[in-house]
Amino acid sequence: MMSAKFLITGVTGNVGKEVIDRLIEKGLPVKAAVRDLSKAESLGLKNTEIVLFDYDKPETFEPALVDVDRLFIIPPPLNPKQHELIIPLIDVAIQSGVKHIVNISTMSVAHIENLPLGIAEQYIENSGIAYTFLRPNWFMQNCNGYMLEDIKERGAINLPAGDAKTSLIDIRDIVDVSVVALTTKNHLNRKYTLTGGKALDNYEIAKILSDVSGKKIQYYPMTDEGMSLSLKSFGMTDENVEMYMDLYRSIRKGDTASVSPDVRNVLGREPITFEQYSHDYIESWK
Ligand SMILES: NC(=O)c1ccc[n+]([C@@H]2O[C@H](COP(=O)([O-])OP(=O)(O)OC[C@H]3O[C@@H](n4cnc5c(N)ncnc54)[C@H](OP(=O)(O)O)[C@@H]3O)[C@@H](O)[C@H]2O)c1
Repeated sequence: MMSAKFLITGVTGNVGKEVIDRLIEKGLPVKAAVRDLSKAESLGLKNTEIVLFDYDKPETFEPALVDVDRLFIIPPPLNPKQHELIIPLIDVAIQSGVKHIVNISTMSVAHIENLPLGIAEQYIENSGIAYTFLRPNWFMQNCNGYMLEDIKERGAINLPAGDAKTSLIDIRDIVDVSVVALTTKNHLNRKYTLTGGKALDNYEIAKILSDVSGKKIQYYPMTDEGMSLSLKSFGMTDENVEMYMDLYRSIRKGDTASVSPDVRNVLGREPITFEQYSHDYIESWK
């Protein structure tokens, strides 16, 4: 029997890549789960076992979980059937003797009934495997991700968020909490809501980005119809669009405005502010 390992999913994505780098730095035994092995080379992961792992190919789960006792789950994003893909993974994790699952979902599981990620959490909770649920609010890094083209090219934030506030979280805080949850025993069977320390509306977000970038950036509240058409133009299915519209309705109801103490309680420091984030990513706004 080889020594027990961590299996980290989503390593070609924002959160998973930072998490696995941090575990490797600590000299911990890790396996990197990738669905496209050719992508793994560019990640520069040293002393790491690379394994094939694809939510759409459940036959990859069992080999990936050999000798694994801690599993970090990044759900497949943009998928309204996330639970149907994650549940078979949990069944294999039970059989394989996984001892602890750290699972990324979303703050919205507490507000929207039967959200796929909420159903997946429920299944994990009933599995008998110890869990740590990390429920982040919307990411600050969406501004330098899918929103960047609008911000840079048109000076625009286009969202159907009305004048609601959101306590955005910096991905770097999610990574720090994930590493603590994976590597210590103090967070078993806990559910943490990960938010920034302050809720901002999109007018305030546009103002901060304008001040930092020196460019004029404005918030243009969208209608649901406008957003829905825009998402469909990117090729999203009707089901997927509906999932997103539920999330935006929840923002407008004020569900994502609350500030949680969980990042501070786990890390012993304040969460990163949006001002700090926008300075740190200054190259993005140029
Ligand atoms: N953005 C937000 O505001 C927000 C808020 C709350 C929660 N979340 C959740 O946070 C999680 C992490 O976000 P992130 O920014 O790190 O995501 P990301 O950068 O989009 O990365 C997603 C990762 O999942 C992998 N993946 C996708 N489909 C897969 C499949 N069928 N089988 C195996 N792997 C697959 C991707 O691999 P490939 O490189 O091969 O595609 C990639 O490594 C996501 O699950 C997201 O839903 C996001």
